[in-house]
Amino acid sequence: MKKFYLETFGCQMNVHDSEKVVGTLESRGYEQVETVEAADLVLYNTCSIRDKAEQKVFHRLDQFKRSGKDKLFGVLGCVAQQEGEKIFDKAPHVSLVVGSASYSKLPELLVQLETGSRHVTGLSLDTDETFETPLTRRDNPHRAFITIIEGCDKSCSYCVVPFTRGPERSRASASVIEEAHQLAAAGYSEIQLLGQNVNSYRDPSPEGWDFSRLLEAVGHVPGVRRVRFTTSHPRDFVKEIIDAIDRTGTLCNMVHLPVQSGSTRVLAAMDRQYTRDQYMQRIAWMKNARREIAISTDIIVGFPGETEEDFAQTMSLLDEVEYDSIFSFKYSVRPNTPALALGDHIPEEEKSRRLTVLQEHQRAIQLRRNTKLIGSEQEALVEGFNSSTGQWIGRTSQNRVLNFTAPPREDGIVPERKSVIGRYVPVRVLRAGPNSLAGECRAAL
Ligand code: SAH
Ligand code: SF4
Ligand code: F3S
Repeated sequence: MKKFYLETFGCQMNVHDSEKVVGTLESRGYEQVETVEAADLVLYNTCSIRDKAEQKVFHRLDQFKRSGKDKLFGVLGCVAQQEGEKIFDKAPHVSLVVGSASYSKLPELLVQLETGSRHVTGLSLDTDETFETPLTRRDNPHRAFITIIEGCDKSCSYCVVPFTRGPERSRASASVIEEAHQLAAAGYSEIQLLGQNVNSYRDPSPEGWDFSRLLEAVGHVPGVRRVRFTTSHPRDFVKEIIDAIDRTGTLCNMVHLPVQSGSTRVLAAMDRQYTRDQYMQRIAWMKNARREIAISTDIIVGFPGETEEDFAQTMSLLDEVEYDSIFSFKYSVRPNTPALALGDHIPEEEKSRRLTVLQEHQRAIQLRRNTKLIGSEQEALVEGFNSSTGQWIGRTSQNRVLNFTAPPREDGIVPERKSVIGRYVPVRVLRAGPNSLAGECRAAL
């Protein structure tokens, strides 16, 4: 049997794409292995969002240039789409280059490889249906991803995604709901709806559902206990989404709403299509929701032309919103993007300084916010057990990590981990750090 190794970089869309690739390969008789050494076919599912991410795959390929002579190498995903056949020049031992819109063609591309073609590519961005999922092999036994929309029609001036993932195409609502039913029946209790911009979801079928309608319907599928969604673009974020969260207990009280900058001037240069005030309006909807909603965001520092004053506005936005978590990045120039023309004149050390200042400030905010939860009771989905601390690892609806202990059972039986993982248990929060909570489950497990 042929063996393949697959390493995944990048966002959750890529993680989910890899699940589809694994399913497809297994259905064709390939077996997944844990090391490059043991594999006949070595695949990298790549990310090109920042230069560093892109370089990773070339480092990996370099590592096995000589030792991998008897193996086939393939580059999948966003670097594949962006660099195309240039990858064969940069890394001549690569035989397969496939972009994310072409995974449905993977079986026929594999046949070409197997029959001896030296260089095989799947780089078309024509909008074939890429939602077919019967071959998906999911890694997490309790949480499952469902892609509801592919691609991106925005044109944020720094971003490669519209080039690497192509134009937006939404999946029919009935197909999403059907997959949610199948997943719930198979024991997945948490569903995460995926798209580069889920808010611009438009049901292509006659029902014509928008995102909030779809979200609420997924929340009503029997057996589904938690629904999350990523990621949202503020411009298309409407109040109906918060109304749906208010009405539907299964919709998690958390929203990831990338802001990128607190300065309206920089937002305009980024072509984000909203102002700081408009962004804050969305935040106000969340702050007025029935349940407290955890808010997270993405921030870029050092965008061309970002002054000290602009950066100060991003810092003040952190205080105004009080995010529960942030993902922050130094601006990285990307090929093909409109911002390429703006240059990259903020020195690397200054970008690093701004990033550190921002992250330290946010750390204090997170500690403050987490500390407020001490004494509260949270429902945790048990995700694992940490043998070195003797604690169960749980996750709250707001997506916080909550480590906890539980009293011994009266009958003296130590529960099998397998039987506890995947359960939802009430945990009292006793301690808080900037990145996690710790507590105690009052009942034995
Ligand atoms: N569709 C999502 C973004 C996906 S990319 C959205 O619109 O929010 C994830 C994050 O990477 C972005 O939110 C942005 O903060 C960051 N990012 C994208 N391009 C970047 C670049 N050229 N340099 C630095 N960070 C970047
Ligand atoms: Fe990139 Fe903007 Fe599209 Fe997000 S919305 S993927 S940042 S172009
Ligand atoms: Fe990276 Fe592509 Fe996702 S560039 S962030 S893997 S969409």
